[in-house]
Amino acid sequence: MKTLQLSSGKDDIRKAARIIKNGGLVAMPTETVYGLAADALNGEAVRKIFKAKGRPMDNPLIVHISDISQVYALVREFPEKAKILARKFWPGPLTMILPKSALIPDEVSAGLDTVAIRFPSHPAAQTLIAESCPLAAPSANLSGSPSPTTVQHVRDDMDGRIDAIIDGGDCDVGVESTVITLASNIPELLRPGGITFEQLREAIGEVIINGAVIKPLKSGEKAASPGMKYKHYSPKAEVVLIDGDNESFWEYINRNASQGEAVLCYDGDLGHLRLPCISVGKSDDYETQAHRLFTALRNADEIGLKRVYAHCPEKKGIGLAVYNRIIRAAGFNIIKL
Ligand code: TXA
Ligand code: MG
Repeated sequence: MKTLQLSSGKDDIRKAARIIKNGGLVAMPTETVYGLAADALNGEAVRKIFKAKGRPMDNPLIVHISDISQVYALVREFPEKAKILARKFWPGPLTMILPKSALIPDEVSAGLDTVAIRFPSHPAAQTLIAESCPLAAPSANLSGSPSPTTVQHVRDDMDGRIDAIIDGGDCDVGVESTVITLASNIPELLRPGGITFEQLREAIGEVIINGAVIKPLKSGEKAASPGMKYKHYSPKAEVVLIDGDNESFWEYINRNASQGEAVLCYDGDLGHLRLPCISVGKSDDYETQAHRLFTALRNADEIGLKRVYAHCPEKKGIGLAVYNRIIRAAGFNIIKL
């Protein structure tokens, strides 16, 4: 299949909207990561997403809207707390899980009784939805590899597998949206992202953090969000997370360093390490870390590394999202110093 390269100009987005209406697949920019979009109400079109990504069919998709009013047809209930979050954080990097309406095809919800809804803030995504329909869209990477935050990442993974790619520049946030379920008694954070746990709690009071956000699922434990059970964001290199203060981190790396290894670290580590370094910014600048993380993981593969040591991020603010992605990239392989 020849993949059409489109700009985010109005005419090109109209072209993309026609592809969507005809049941095709379009990669679109969002403020978090690029998404691979299809008509959310066309089960057959949605099935093509799973095929293009090599995604397991039991992992449900997020439905993207471009106006809050669209949510009512897609869900059975839109509770008060969801309304508060929508008013406060939409459009933006927040996905809400709600009881689904009969309109949602099984392919989207993977047989669950709920549906994930998000209203992205990227203007190209909003225009595409407004010109077509609500869009089912997972991240536009091959299943298992780091999410794409640049149009080149999307081309690397999806060229020849989908109908079109809209170039909307680099993604702002750099990690996927925050996922919160409002279909349970107490709202529960299932995936940390650009809207932080602290912001959610301030807006609606009690919110729990699902255990699988920072720990592996126990064997036999059912995932609250099917995406939790798959190995994610993993580059080909082995990633090892090192948890310790600066001095012991430097000492550990310099003692163990060997050929084919590099370090994913912070600006303050530079100059202290005997291995090539990929810095994701200052250790307390969580936004920049989120913005650079997936490019750093993809770079590790381009260089052909066999092992990457990652300096453990702090779990505050968007730092929790960075931690959540890195421990998955590391397959929960953590060395505590
Ligand atoms: O920022 C984002 O959310 C990006 C952009 C493209 O919008 N999308 C994204 O989609 O990250 P995806 O499919 O890569 O991740 C969606 C996550 C998965 O872990 C999935 O299991 C979970 O949301 N999810 C979707 N529907 C769900 C549901 N009904 N219940 C529980 N988890 C759900
Ligand atoms: Mg994904």
